Amino acid sequence: MPKVLVSDKLAKEGIDILKQVAEVDVNTGLPEDELCKIIGDYDALVIRSGTTVTAKVLEAATKLKIIGRAGVGVDNVDVPVATEKGVIVVNSPGGNTIAAAELTVAMLLALSRNIPQAYCSMTEKQWNRSKYVGNEVYKKTLGILGLGKIGQEVAKRCQSFGMKVIAYDPFISSETADALGVEIVEFNDCLKRSDYISLHLPKNKETIGLIGAKQFDMMKDGVRIVNCARGGIIDDGALAEAIKSGKCAGAGLDVYVSEPPDFSNELFSLPNVVTTPHLGASTEEAQTNVAIDVAEQIVDVFEGKSARSAVNMPALSPEVLAAVQPFLPLAEKMASLAAQTTEGRPSQISIRYCGELAEGETGPITRSVLVGLLRPALGENVNSVNAPVMAKSRGLEVVESKCADGGDYASLLSVSVTTDKGVYEVAGTLFGARDMRVVKMGGFPMDLVPEGVVLVAPHMDKPGVIGNVGTLLGNEGINIASMYVGRKTAGENAIMVLNVDAEIPASVLEKITQLNNIDSVKQVRL
Ligand code: NAD
Ligand code: MLT
Repeated sequence: MPKVLVSDKLAKEGIDILKQVAEVDVNTGLPEDELCKIIGDYDALVIRSGTTVTAKVLEAATKLKIIGRAGVGVDNVDVPVATEKGVIVVNSPGGNTIAAAELTVAMLLALSRNIPQAYCSMTEKQWNRSKYVGNEVYKKTLGILGLGKIGQEVAKRCQSFGMKVIAYDPFISSETADALGVEIVEFNDCLKRSDYISLHLPKNKETIGLIGAKQFDMMKDGVRIVNCARGGIIDDGALAEAIKSGKCAGAGLDVYVSEPPDFSNELFSLPNVVTTPHLGASTEEAQTNVAIDVAEQIVDVFEGKSARSAVNMPALSPEVLAAVQPFLPLAEKMASLAAQTTEGRPSQISIRYCGELAEGETGPITRSVLVGLLRPALGENVNSVNAPVMAKSRGLEVVESKCADGGDYASLLSVSVTTDKGVYEVAGTLFGARDMRVVKMGGFPMDLVPEGVVLVAPHMDKPGVIGNVGTLLGNEGINIASMYVGRKTAGENAIMVLNVDAEIPASVLEKITQLNNIDSVKQVRL
């Protein structure tokens, strides 16, 4: 049974799903060294924002297949290293969207009406009505930085208050913005025109320190700013100065550069700064959603299926996934067959999609081809997460092409491996939903079920050759399950391909090689 380590608090609903297929240990608050000591035992790791998965942790994680981030941000995971090591990183992109959007709106209103400050004064038995006069958000402009899932939900809610919403997001289509009634503007314009600014960006090299002193200078006097995205996108020092100078009338912060934060930071003592301890996703609903979401994905991966929200693999809709899934084993086996029968060092792999197959998404099939090609050399270290990186690091050029005509087949997949000794092609298809067939090998027509142990013997098409091989295997107690001979012209070069029920010892392979008219013999495991 696989083992799962849950190293941050996770809703019970998620743990229950994991327990159906795995042994689950919940061990939270581990320092890096402690995590490194135990992570080698686990197949999956489930985290929230508390655990940082560093390169050192990943180095120690020798069995790890998947990291489930019960939330959105994966800035606490070294994703490039995970990818290199073939560890899938999944998150829950939508599970806490509403929770984070609602907290953002609560922050905007709290800032506008001084609710936290007024509450604190009441706890001190003070009745200060005039001190806490606020502003209406009605008819004010909200500038959203990052119009993704949360930004869009914030936009809808704020429009319902009568706010004008503008946004800066260079990666969002104008159709999406138009449909929301949000005006897309340039970054500086967004800063200059907004009464309220709300951040909904990922934290990365481009966004760290995005809002500094220069940006505050551009903003309207009395601007209010909310950061429920990630600490560090606003420069703390610049924000403190803007608050103290009155440039910024208030800031709502849910996230910090380090968490828990350094409470000596003066932002925590400024009265106009409203802070919460990273509560954006902290609703019962969101915690249940994200826990179920990542737990289901971990179960899928344990069951050999694709994860729907992997961040280091392209995301696929369930429909696309269902369409490509049957071709994945075929692709892997065909490429493995090519890798095990090709002579020489591969420099290029060409993958051609023809017929119906060419109409849909083919990226996952290409990944499976690369896995099949590389695994005979690299073993289990290669998987569909790291196969493209591994192919690139080995100088293997990957060429993909498509054609509408599948010839005799509804869909035809061809894999050609170019080596320093020549080009070797394998083509295959599915009969029905899952019946895998290799229909061409090394230029010869074929009808091979690519499963189990396969003997491949190029030979001269002369009487007795096939019989001799059959007799020899029979005498050695090796049963032939099926056999196919591909040839183009009678009496010339041909290829014999046999599915056999057991491994053929090297000594027997040697004897086959010695038979008359046999060119070479290869045993392939698929
Ligand atoms: P998302 O991926 O749906 O949206 C992010 C948007 O930012 C995208 O539309 C993207 O195009 C845009 N973007 C990326 N780089 C940009 C740049 N340099 N300039 C402008 N726009 C840029 O993500 P989301 O689910 O909306 O999450 C947004 C942020 O909120 C993330 O940082 C996430 O980690 C954080 N978050 C925080 C909490 C919390 O508890 N406070 C909860 C959930 C998410
Ligand atoms: C997220 O990225 O999902 C949020 O910040 C919430 C969390 O970290 O749990």
